Amino acid sequence: MHVNDEEVAQATGQIIEVSEDEIEVIEPSFSDVRQAPSAAEEISISRPRNVMELPSAPPTRPGLARVVVCINQKGGVGKTTTVINVAAHLATLGLRVLVVDCDAQGNCATGLGIDKSKVEFTSRNLMLNPELAGSCRYATNIDGLHLVVGGRTLVGLEQELMSELGRERRLTEGLEVLLPHYDIVLIDTPPSLGIVTINALCAADAVIIPVQTEYFALEGIALLAGTIREIRTRLNPRLGVDAILMTMHAPTLLNGQVAGQLKETFAGLVIEPPIRRNIRIAEAPSHGIPIHLHAPESHGGNDYRGLAENLALRWGLANR
Ligand SMILES: Nc1ncnc2c1ncn2[C@@H]1O[C@H](COP(=O)(O)OP(=O)(O)OP(=O)(O)O)[C@@H](O)[C@H]1O
Ligand SMILES: [Mg+2]
Repeated sequence: MHVNDEEVAQATGQIIEVSEDEIEVIEPSFSDVRQAPSAAEEISISRPRNVMELPSAPPTRPGLARVVVCINQKGGVGKTTTVINVAAHLATLGLRVLVVDCDAQGNCATGLGIDKSKVEFTSRNLMLNPELAGSCRYATNIDGLHLVVGGRTLVGLEQELMSELGRERRLTEGLEVLLPHYDIVLIDTPPSLGIVTINALCAADAVIIPVQTEYFALEGIALLAGTIREIRTRLNPRLGVDAILMTMHAPTLLNGQVAGQLKETFAGLVIEPPIRRNIRIAEAPSHGIPIHLHAPESHGGNDYRGLAENLALRWGLANR
């Protein structure tokens, strides 16, 4: 068909029949010729950035509690379970422990047997009214373990703090008078990076990162590593990573492979053995008690005892 015929047909709305011989099939051809790198690429090629780089944290300041944030922006990886059970075990070792629940779900109270409806002051008050810090703590059934309750009162705080000066340091200010009275402050965070989580990271010496030994574990840590770098640069140069904890581990090929990758990538930071998936751990909060009271000899009881002892050693708190 000639071009002119086609133009005429288009203009008049005529339907043209095209025979198969007339269709030209374009064969794509591929080559491995590489374009020269751009200036930006040149820089990243010559100076690779290790996205997995995790800075280590400084030693605890003398006479003050070590402030450790349990964090992972991925939900349901065992942050709250770890905070409750590690804190409870550390208290049984004779340490003075404060848990600060910065999550609007407020699950630490349930897991430690505190009735949220009877609580007057929460972590919201700790952040908004530092002068109330002493009254924000509640004693649990475990000697030496106190809790600042989280919960629904934190909803809306993000918005309220947005217009406040020094909004990232409210928790730091709230904790200041409490730090001399404890050996360790463990902060539970929500699975998001809002202003409340940023407050926790500003107040912290270090983070511990629970990860489920599942696909995407490493991507999650890479994201967190970026957040930690940013907080160190802009807000809290002390912040580092104390440990990566493998949670809900099962004897599957995938779980084993991910555990292997984690240990290879973060040698020295990954605590072994992993916390195994164990129904007793999931049951304990419904009784309002930690695993060491619910089923101390279960896999979960043994794993969390081991983890708490390992952390106490790392933090220089063993044999106090
Ligand atoms: N080792 C384990 N074995 C079995 N169940 C577990 C284990 N660890 C945690 N769980 C259960 O998995 C669920 C999620 O755990 P948890 O609430 O601690 O995660 P989270 O990271 O705090 O979640 P969120 O991001 O929503 O705050 C809970 O029901 C908990 O009881
Ligand atoms: Mg939680």
